[in-house]
Amino acid sequence: MAKNINKKSFDEASKLKLEIFGESFEEWLPVFIYDKYTTQVSIFDFFAGSGTDIENNLGSPLILLDKAKGENRKYCANAKKPIKFFFNEGLIRKSNELLQNTDVFIEQCKKDNHCSNCVYDYHILNYSFQELFNNPDLKRVFENKNIAKFVLLDQYGFSQINEDVFKQLISFPKTDFIFFISSSFINRFKDHPYTKQYIDTSKIAFENKKPNEIHRTVADFFRSLIPNNKEYYLHHFSIKKGANYYGLIFGSNHTLGMEKFLKVCWNHDKLSGEANYNIDNNWAVNSLFSQLDENVKKDTVSKEIKELILSGEITDNKTGLKYALINGCEPKLFTEVVQNLINRKAIEIIGKFNKQATSIHKIKEFYHIKRINNGK
Ligand SMILES: C[S@@+](CC[C@H](N)C(=O)[O-])C[C@H]1O[C@@H](n2cnc3c(N)ncnc32)[C@H](O)[C@@H]1O
Repeated sequence: MAKNINKKSFDEASKLKLEIFGESFEEWLPVFIYDKYTTQVSIFDFFAGSGTDIENNLGSPLILLDKAKGENRKYCANAKKPIKFFFNEGLIRKSNELLQNTDVFIEQCKKDNHCSNCVYDYHILNYSFQELFNNPDLKRVFENKNIAKFVLLDQYGFSQINEDVFKQLISFPKTDFIFFISSSFINRFKDHPYTKQYIDTSKIAFENKKPNEIHRTVADFFRSLIPNNKEYYLHHFSIKKGANYYGLIFGSNHTLGMEKFLKVCWNHDKLSGEANYNIDNNWAVNSLFSQLDENVKKDTVSKEIKELILSGEITDNKTGLKYALINGCEPKLFTEVVQNLINRKAIEIIGKFNKQATSIHKIKEFYHIKRINNGK
């Protein structure tokens, strides 16, 4: 994307990226405003820019503040614990502009909403990302399980989120993150020493991948860095701009975080929940061959779930719901498969069947699934 993104109008791809940042944060914040085990909420925008584009469209830090207010102040009026924003920008000139823009934004917000004070605490920083990320005080915040952290990493290119940074991000408790990455460039320059300095491209399975699958492939590389015994959720969203593919990668160690990010993604892409184009080559809706009930992604994951149930590898609802999540589908896909198998008399439920498919961490009633009639 553009060098100095804030000096011109945000293009469509940047607007989509910013929408996904804002909507994901809007889903995330209320969870921790009301969570009794969270004593503080900290939001980090590590590559914050100057706050607006040339047309005064809001950039990520001001979008975060705007979303944090909530419609009719529903979030800030209920914020009874410290909620802190850290906006970092590496260029001093842009960091100063951001400070000015943020002050103006907050003053206007106070005026519009008749508030004498803003309950939110914000800090504008000017560090190189690596320096800030390795700061011991910041590490303590990241390692504190009573502090909920939302982290945006809107880097240019791909050099800042290397294996080490990624592994740290997935190790922190109560930390959800989204980072931007220029996947096409990693592929195009995969043999260049500059690229290899930041990312081990020999571990990325680019061979035989179509260009439209490049970001999915980069996301799979990051997925492969998660230790086998760790329950962790990663999802991605590919953004095509011209001939290039960029994208977002989201991570959370909690099913609710993943549910919420998937909800945002499936709202943007009804076909696959992961791209601003038809990534799985579904027939276009309303085309001559369109079948509204056919969907490559959902059909593939449904078939896998059905086979795993019938082979006895998925034997309870919690495992099945998580399987859907891990594979980038909303958990209700699992309950649809179970209902279908019940109707076909291929399985029976031991316990009480329920269709709960949201807030799955709260499901108390487990049910077990037993294959009957040889699964026919
Ligand atoms: C893609 S832009 C972020 C745009 C921002 N999210 C917005 O909505 O306006 C990346 C920003 O990171 C800054 N930057 C680049 N490298 C950096 C580094 N190593 N540390 C901190 N900031 C950096 C750039 O100056 C630029 O403003």
